[in-house]
Amino acid sequence: MQDRFNRPITYLRISVTDKCNLRCNYCMPAGGVPLLRHEDVLSFEEVVAFTQAAVQHGITKVRLTGGEPLVRRGIVALTGMLAEIAGIHDFAMTTNGTHLEQFAHPLANAGLKRVNVSLDTMDPERYRRITRGGDIEAVFRGLEAARHAGLTPIKLNCVIEDSPDASDASAVRAFGATHGYEVRFIRRMHLASGAFSTVIGGTGGDCEQCNRLRLSCDGLVRPCLFSNLGFNVRTLGPVEALQQAVAAKPACGATSNAAFHAVGG
Ligand code: 5AD
Ligand code: SF4
Repeated sequence: MQDRFNRPITYLRISVTDKCNLRCNYCMPAGGVPLLRHEDVLSFEEVVAFTQAAVQHGITKVRLTGGEPLVRRGIVALTGMLAEIAGIHDFAMTTNGTHLEQFAHPLANAGLKRVNVSLDTMDPERYRRITRGGDIEAVFRGLEAARHAGLTPIKLNCVIEDSPDASDASAVRAFGATHGYEVRFIRRMHLASGAFSTVIGGTGGDCEQCNRLRLSCDGLVRPCLFSNLGFNVRTLGPVEALQQAVAAKPACGATSNAAFHAVGG
């Protein structure tokens, strides 16, 4: 698939839940957010049907996101169902890592290839503050489990306020260098104001090179993180939603009312 600007569309990010066990201060309000009703969340069958259609139309890379994908009940089964789709050459997950100790081996056995893990600081107290209660030791155990399970290359997502040279970011960079984790620095974004930027060390945020589509957990195919466009797979059907989303993909992002916890970053 190519969009109007001749960009090949090859990368699908699937948000499998709007729930998360953490409350990162840049992503969620302290009290959490009103959650979707169960019936509004796509079933495994619906996610698989859409992904099959997307792969038939040229998607080769799939990433599972959230919310936190590991709090979706049955995530290992869903991972296995998606892994069986022929034609996915890169199959990854973005996770906060706090449940990876439990899930790394089952996910690898189900066919997941690799993980990106969110880590914004090396300091347990600051981690607790940023995530509003998270335990950094659980993330470290999760990273070890992911390494042992072969979910490599492991990448770390580090959200920064402005500079990748700030002390938290530098500590994460050093940790990554020691353990062989690739670190990507993501400037804190504000979707509503259109304040977005490129990912340092990654591919996100560069509109000219954008090859992405997103599937939200309630079934909207979103052509751009920084736009309110969305095409409903339930009302349009997978192929029509896919084609309309590709046709509508904007040249460059602007602003969006979408929330990170529901579109998966
Ligand atoms: N700005 C930048 N990145 C964000 N994420 C969530 N909220 C924001 C935000 N406001 C990203 C983080 C996290 C991933 C799940 O989503 O990089 O690792
Ligand atoms: Fe949860 Fe990730 Fe949002 Fe943090 S950034 S609250 S871990 S979804």
